[in-house]
Amino acid sequence: MLGVHKAVFPVAGIDTRFLPATKASPKEMLPVIDKPLIQYAVEEAIAAGITELIFVTGRGKRVIEDHFDKSYEVEHVLRARGSQSLVELVQSIKPPGVECIYVRQAEPLGLGHAVLCAEKLIGDEPFAVVLADDLLEGKPPVLAQMVPIFSHYDSSVVAVEEFESGEASSHGVIDGRHWDERIIAVSDIVEKPSPETAPSSFGVAGRYVLMPSIFSHLRRVKPAGNGEIQLTAAIHSMLKDEQVLAYEFEGTRYDCGTKLGYLQATVDFALRHAEVHDAFDAWLRARVGAAGAVPGQPAPGARGTLHH
Ligand code: G1P
Repeated sequence: MLGVHKAVFPVAGIDTRFLPATKASPKEMLPVIDKPLIQYAVEEAIAAGITELIFVTGRGKRVIEDHFDKSYEVEHVLRARGSQSLVELVQSIKPPGVECIYVRQAEPLGLGHAVLCAEKLIGDEPFAVVLADDLLEGKPPVLAQMVPIFSHYDSSVVAVEEFESGEASSHGVIDGRHWDERIIAVSDIVEKPSPETAPSSFGVAGRYVLMPSIFSHLRRVKPAGNGEIQLTAAIHSMLKDEQVLAYEFEGTRYDCGTKLGYLQATVDFALRHAEVHDAFDAWLRARVGAAGAVPGQPAPGARGTLHH
């Protein structure tokens, strides 16, 4: 049984979809209610038993390092105010026993290149890749669902979900054969095909558990037309040598790389948030009622909106 102790968080990308918010601060620090996207991603990794967090950062992303670092000033002020629970909250951002390591990706050469930047830190071990702008909700957390599958089958695993027709060109898309209800033996994978050429309706969500053999493929694959080295291309190359599984995860994906997905996450999380759910629920119902929806019915699109 192979354990997975390391996770790579590619966070070097320059975001254009959330400008101007992301001009000077990273998109991974956008909060859903009160927690930045990167922290949700880190919590999911820690819940899966990961203890070494490797962030592939770039210029303008230093605030991510600060977020996972100790803040003497903030803790000092909170202690002086007697807010012990808030001291514990900020201390829990990086639990004891978890290590954060940062490596720079100097040029935006794609997701595959970002993963390659972590090669020396990974060495000859399996590892996870977590894309923070895919906010995944699952019980257990999605990466914790994937690690036992990886260990059991001794194969790389990518998380997939069925997408709506027409959405192929925003995903890596797999082809393959179902082994059981949720596990698919991958026979092909293509990056962002046109809807007409997509081999299936199963798209890759931003979670991967990979064998270290992926690095030799990443070093070999040709950059795509836009000059980027795609992780999908390396997985495609890997298929010639070894088995790769796709796992239809149990849970919901919020594509927080888009404004719509980010808003959907915000609404759903607010409806469950201990501090605001009652007041927000009441406000939302009144708002939707005023807009002509049936009073007393859940707000359209406010719960369980994406595919599940
Ligand atoms: C990346 C991957 C793509 C995957 C997607 C999941 O694309 O290249 O294969 O389906 O993440 O979110 P991006 O969304 O970074 O363009």
